[in-house]
Amino acid sequence: MAHKKPYSITTPIYYVNDRPHIGHCYTTVVADVAARFARLLGRDTFFLTGTDEHAEKVVKTAIERGHTPQEWADINAAEFVKAFKLMSIDYDDFMRTSEDRHKGRASSYIKALMDSRDIYLGDYKGWYDPSQEEYLTETVAKEHDYTSPVTGKPLEERSEKNYFFRLSKYEDRLHAAIDKGVKGEPGGYRILPDARKNEVLGRLKQGLNDVPVSRAVKEDDADWGILMPGDPTHRVYVWIEALCNYLTAVDNTTEPNTTETEGDRSKYWPASVHVMAKDILWFHAVIWPAMLMALGRPLPGVVYAHAYFVAEGVKMSKSLGNFIEIDQLEAYANWVVEAERKQADKEGREPRPMGIDPVRWYLATQGPLGANDADFAHTKFVEVYNADLANGIGNCASRVGNMIEKYFGGEVPDYSGTEQVSTPQKVCTGITNDVLEGFERFDLGICTQIGVMLVNAVDGYINETRPFSLAKQIDDTRVREELSSVLYNCAEAVRIASLLLYPVLPNKMAELWRHWHCSPLHDPDDPNSGFKAPLAELAQWGGEYSLKPGQKIDKGAALFMRASAEETPPGM
Ligand code: MSP
Repeated sequence: MAHKKPYSITTPIYYVNDRPHIGHCYTTVVADVAARFARLLGRDTFFLTGTDEHAEKVVKTAIERGHTPQEWADINAAEFVKAFKLMSIDYDDFMRTSEDRHKGRASSYIKALMDSRDIYLGDYKGWYDPSQEEYLTETVAKEHDYTSPVTGKPLEERSEKNYFFRLSKYEDRLHAAIDKGVKGEPGGYRILPDARKNEVLGRLKQGLNDVPVSRAVKEDDADWGILMPGDPTHRVYVWIEALCNYLTAVDNTTEPNTTETEGDRSKYWPASVHVMAKDILWFHAVIWPAMLMALGRPLPGVVYAHAYFVAEGVKMSKSLGNFIEIDQLEAYANWVVEAERKQADKEGREPRPMGIDPVRWYLATQGPLGANDADFAHTKFVEVYNADLANGIGNCASRVGNMIEKYFGGEVPDYSGTEQVSTPQKVCTGITNDVLEGFERFDLGICTQIGVMLVNAVDGYINETRPFSLAKQIDDTRVREELSSVLYNCAEAVRIASLLLYPVLPNKMAELWRHWHCSPLHDPDDPNSGFKAPLAELAQWGGEYSLKPGQKIDKGAALFMRASAEETPPGM
């Protein structure tokens, strides 16, 4: 059931004035999980992330640290690349806005908007928040006592000649497009979750002013950022330039900036989904669609703004210094839990670290996808890890693998004994459609929960059919046949569950497939090598990719060893 329409998903491009933290990793993991589901569903997928480099605060931090802006951007962009590698994020492109391919194309869009008079020169007076690099309306500035709503620092009253984008002209069209999005009509875009859409609609009702899209070149200009086409006295405001990255990455067929290896990416526009947190929804749900309208380009399908991660119940902030940094996530990945250490000793092998998948699991299943904030707390991390992974899929796969090894010498048994459709098989029926439905709503939680539900169904089935009791009478042909089919059903259902758990746990599921000699990947050693077939075929019970009687299964070491909340990863 391969879907013809390509799927493209983007994350915000992150500021390079600082190192990555859990927030950046969270959004990017969400997009990665969506991209992996899309690939699993057989869609031609494009996943874009990157860094936003031309902000004034990058210049400021660079100077403070004794670097040029480019050097500082290089250092931090590399940190993001490294962090995303650590998180097992498999993006298709990492766009840096200081790259020529971006600058050239972004400039051409601004020029087109100037030519169509959607961008014009005017006077601007207003309240500027230097820490966020944005102007605030008089109402918002007053509400916060003329201090930044984010950092609490004083706002600056700025007055300057500025270029403006004629946002006001698009008010009605934006309304209409959001309406169409709700109805699922062509030409519309959906703002999700609903609470966020309502906020946008509420703000739209207050009317739209034109927005400044440039900043004057100052005397101490660091030559950083794109100049307004035809006017060397102004630079394109960083936000406007940054939004353009979604297009510059796919508009790659025009010289001189085409990268040969990329191939023609025009099929990846419009983006299926732009994901971000609620802090930057307005730019994505209003300003960007209006810019696209002005450029005559199709609108994205979904603008999804999730809520925030907080740390141990407290909002993360620079002043509190409680950001969960990438190092902390890395410490979890490198954590060798006590149980694993003991087991490894017993088996005379090296103990294995936990790996990044449990961190991905926590972020993806406990994160703020939806309208409510979510907490990252150590105790909860261990609780979720034990319940879902060690006692969940890990234990279930071990149980099944162990029994097949013990009773059938590690060979997948024959299922011919049962005539009726078993419970696990019933549960597997129609799951591809369920996943598709959840995926269309960007309900990645549901897609993953279907895998969890399957694992639970297998556990329930084992408790009900008691294969360990059947094994006591294995010499009786009828009982042996029953045991065979029970274990076949368990193994086949675990295999199907593992497909649905793969987008969140790509490394661990690839490990399971290697043990079970049933990898659906082109290269079993590379979790990013793509699937041999779409989910509808891979997940077909008894189909081409199913477990075959007689096939070897190695039980392997347990996928996830239980952890204790009293233990903490070293270095934390
Ligand atoms: N550069 C702009 C975005 C331009 S997009 C055209 C920017 N960058 S940022 O580095 O500040 O990243 C903001 C994004 O990081 C949020 O929208 C969200 O995706 C992620 N997060 C930052 N903190 C977060 C949390 N505490 N929780 C969840 N995600 C958060 O804004």
